[in-house]
Amino acid sequence: MTLSLNDPAFFHDPYPYYAKLRESGQPYWVPHSQESTSSGVWLFSRYEDAIAIFKETSKISKEIRFYRPEGATTTFDFHLLHRDGLDHMRLRSLIADFFSIEYIDQVKDVISLAAEELIDSLKKKNEVDLMRDYAEALPLIVIAELMGVPKEDMPQIRQWGLAIGKAFDSLLITEDILQKQKTALGELLGYVQRIVKDQKEISDEKLLGLLINAHKNGEITYEELISMVAFLLFAGHETTINLIGNGLWLLLSHPKQWQLLRDDMSLLPQAVEEVLRYESPEQRTSFRMVLEPIEINGTKMNPGDQVGVIIGSANHDEKEFQNAEVFDIQRKPNRHLAFGIGIHNCLGKTLARVEAQIAFQKILEHLPDLELQETMPGWRKNSFFRGLKELKVQF
Ligand code: HEM
Repeated sequence: MTLSLNDPAFFHDPYPYYAKLRESGQPYWVPHSQESTSSGVWLFSRYEDAIAIFKETSKISKEIRFYRPEGATTTFDFHLLHRDGLDHMRLRSLIADFFSIEYIDQVKDVISLAAEELIDSLKKKNEVDLMRDYAEALPLIVIAELMGVPKEDMPQIRQWGLAIGKAFDSLLITEDILQKQKTALGELLGYVQRIVKDQKEISDEKLLGLLINAHKNGEITYEELISMVAFLLFAGHETTINLIGNGLWLLLSHPKQWQLLRDDMSLLPQAVEEVLRYESPEQRTSFRMVLEPIEINGTKMNPGDQVGVIIGSANHDEKEFQNAEVFDIQRKPNRHLAFGIGIHNCLGKTLARVEAQIAFQKILEHLPDLELQETMPGWRKNSFFRGLKELKVQF
């Protein structure tokens, strides 16, 4: 089909474009030349197609390093999201305890305290950019704490993360963006190698220490150690920043929903789920390569075809969600796919949910009269990660 997901209007409001894709029933072809040996990726947009792709793990592989163009594999390719079968299970089970409800319960106080401190400094200003001063700041503090890396390093890690994330968008890729990604990735991996080498007292209490010890015990290779640390530093902040930012924007721009939440804070978990559905921070899935012929909703896919899901579209599919275009924090059921499903479903989902709930709760408690300064926020030009450039408010 001729629909272009490259139109400037798409980045502001992708949902009418997604609706047309779902209606057509056809996958959308996005050419690329850099990510894998495939010359592009077929993107599926319907909810039921998304489920089929997420669940297919024998005929679809995630082992990106086997499909990189020659010489393009990096140490970053060895983390759990890009592994299959037993290797994936080994890496996931190694760190799973850090993402359990019991563990996240223990870090709730750290998150609450960090949110309150940020709000105290917001109060000293007249005009605030909630993206820069709150939504960005909080997940950076939390992931530094969980990993056991110095908080002072996080602004630099954020800068590398932005350059890496920009190149995830195969719709917009240019030589310049690719080059910047390569440089940022090289610097991030170099940073991780340095902190791993400099670590003196290594305890299993933080993720960094646990992974270093696992390498010492022969449970993971050096490439896996570096890749896992780099990936967790990146995955732990990019999407959560956007969940908090997108949520504050949605709530403040829907005054009735904001009031509903102010009156009944027990709706916080449901509100977070609706933000995840309505403006999914990760709009597309990561790398997937077809290994054996498969058919998805009548479309035949062959070995060597790269496939993906437009999560942002599946989460607006009217066949699954009644009044899908309405932002409704009381929506029930809400079986959104913002965290993926199946064996690669997001390991950090409990952490992200708790961070967002606390972030919204603290704003409602301490700054309930926030007002938006602009009625139209500027979305970052990225069709993979959906988030705002800034969110100016006054109180
Ligand atoms: C709102 C926040 C987040 C969103 C929307 C999100 C989304 C996702 C999605 C969609 C996947 C699956 C991708 C695919 O199948 O292609 C995933 C995987 C993953 N996420 Fe998240 N994520 C979030 C936060 C986090 C956080 C805070 C962490 C860690 C600190 C994290 C760690 C991971 C890991 C380790 C995987 C790979 C799991 C596996 O392969 O078994 N995520 N995430």
